[in-house]
Amino acid sequence: MDHTSISIRSQAPEPGRSISLSEIIAALSFAIELTDGAVIGHALRSCLIGMRIAQEAGFTSDEMSSLYYALLLKDIGNEERIGLRCDRGRSIIHKLSMGPLAADAVSFLEEHWDGTGYPRRACSEEIPRLARVAAIAQHLDMFSIGRDPILALETLKQWSGSWFDPELVKVALSLHLRDRLWTHCRSTDHHETTRAAVLDLDPHQCRRLDDNRIDRICEAFAEVVDAKSHFTFRHSMGVAEFSRGIAQALELPPDRIRLVWRAALLHDLGKLGISNRILNKTTPLTEAEWKTVHLHPGLTRRILEQIGPFQEIAIVAGEHHEKLDGSGYPNRLTASDLSLESRIIAVADVYGALSEDRPYREGLHHQEIVPMLKELAGRQLDGDCIEALIRHINQTTSLNLSAAENPLGSIGKFQSAIF
Ligand SMILES: [Fe+2]
Ligand SMILES: [Fe+2]
Repeated sequence: MDHTSISIRSQAPEPGRSISLSEIIAALSFAIELTDGAVIGHALRSCLIGMRIAQEAGFTSDEMSSLYYALLLKDIGNEERIGLRCDRGRSIIHKLSMGPLAADAVSFLEEHWDGTGYPRRACSEEIPRLARVAAIAQHLDMFSIGRDPILALETLKQWSGSWFDPELVKVALSLHLRDRLWTHCRSTDHHETTRAAVLDLDPHQCRRLDDNRIDRICEAFAEVVDAKSHFTFRHSMGVAEFSRGIAQALELPPDRIRLVWRAALLHDLGKLGISNRILNKTTPLTEAEWKTVHLHPGLTRRILEQIGPFQEIAIVAGEHHEKLDGSGYPNRLTASDLSLESRIIAVADVYGALSEDRPYREGLHHQEIVPMLKELAGRQLDGDCIEALIRHINQTTSLNLSAAENPLGSIGKFQSAIF
C-alpha cells in the first residue's frame, strides 16, 4: 500500500490558539481522577478553595502560582502508600518544571500540624505553608461531597491545631462567613463551571507554552500512565519512540512528526480509568472486563479534547486500537477512516505490546514479532508503517531480522490480548 495515497489530516491550528499551562494541566488532572478510588472534580474544587485561602492569607504571587499547579496535580503520585505517593508526586512535578515550591507542597501534603502525619512526621512551621493550605483545601472538598459544607468546616475546626494550621483554619472560616469560600466549588456545581473558574484563576494566563515545554508535559504524563502497572513500564515512551521512528522513516514533515510523538505518548491516558485488577490479571479477561478495557481509547480522546489545540491529537490517540479491516475498537473504523498518523501509532502500539512482558506471557523478541506484524499487514495494520518500523529498528540497532522465520506461528493467540 502506498502511504502517499492515504490522507493525512492537515487541520490548521486555530489562529492565535496557543496552549496555556493551566488548560493542559487541568485536563490531565481530570485524567488522574479516573484512577481507582479518586473523585471526579476533586482537584479542581480543591484548587479553587486553596487559592482563595492563600489569597486571603497574603501569599506572594510566586506562592500562589506554585500552589495552583500543586493543587491540580496533588494526587499525581497515584500510589496507595503515602510515602511513595509523596515522593513520586514531587519527582513528577519537578519533571514538569513546576518549581520547588509546588514540589514541596505535594511532598508534604499528608503531614499534620502536630507532627502525626506522613511520611516525615514534620510539624508546624516545618511543613511548607503551601502544603498546609493544600491539606485544608483537600479536606474541605472531600468532607463536603454530598453533604452540607458546614459539616466539613466543623471537622476542620475540630482538627485545628492537630491536623491543620490554626491560623489558616481561621482564614478559611472567615472566608466562609463572608460567603467567599464555596463559589463554583460545591460538589453539586457543574464540572464545566468549576473548570472554567479554575482556568480563570490561571496565574499565567498570558504565558503560552513553547513546543518543548508541551513535549516535556506529555512525556511526564506518559510516565504517569506507564507507572500504573509494572507490566506497562515504559510502554507509552516505547510506543512514542517507535511511532516517531516510523514517522521519520516515512519522511513526514516535522509538525506531523511532533503530533505523532505527542499522540503516542498520551495514547493510553484512558488506561488510568481501568482498574489494575484488570490490567494485571493473569487469567483470561471476562466479557465484562473486555468491555471495560475497550473504553480506554475513548477516555483518552475525551481527556485530550479538553485541551483546545489538542483536538487532532485527541482523534489520533483515540484511534490507536482501530484496525484497517474494521475489527478494532472502540468505533470499528476502517481503512478509509484512518489517517496515516493513526496507522503509525497502531503499528507501534502492537510492536511495543508484543515486546513487553504481560501477566500471562513474557515479552517477545524482534525476530519473533516481525513475522507476526507482516501477517497483519494490509489486513489490520498498515504495511508501509510496518516496513518503516522495520527500517527504523534496523537502522537504530544492529538487528537486521526482518526476514526471520516466525518460531511461534500465528499472531492469533496474542492479538486479542494487546491493549
Ligand atoms: Fe498502548
Ligand atoms: Fe491502548
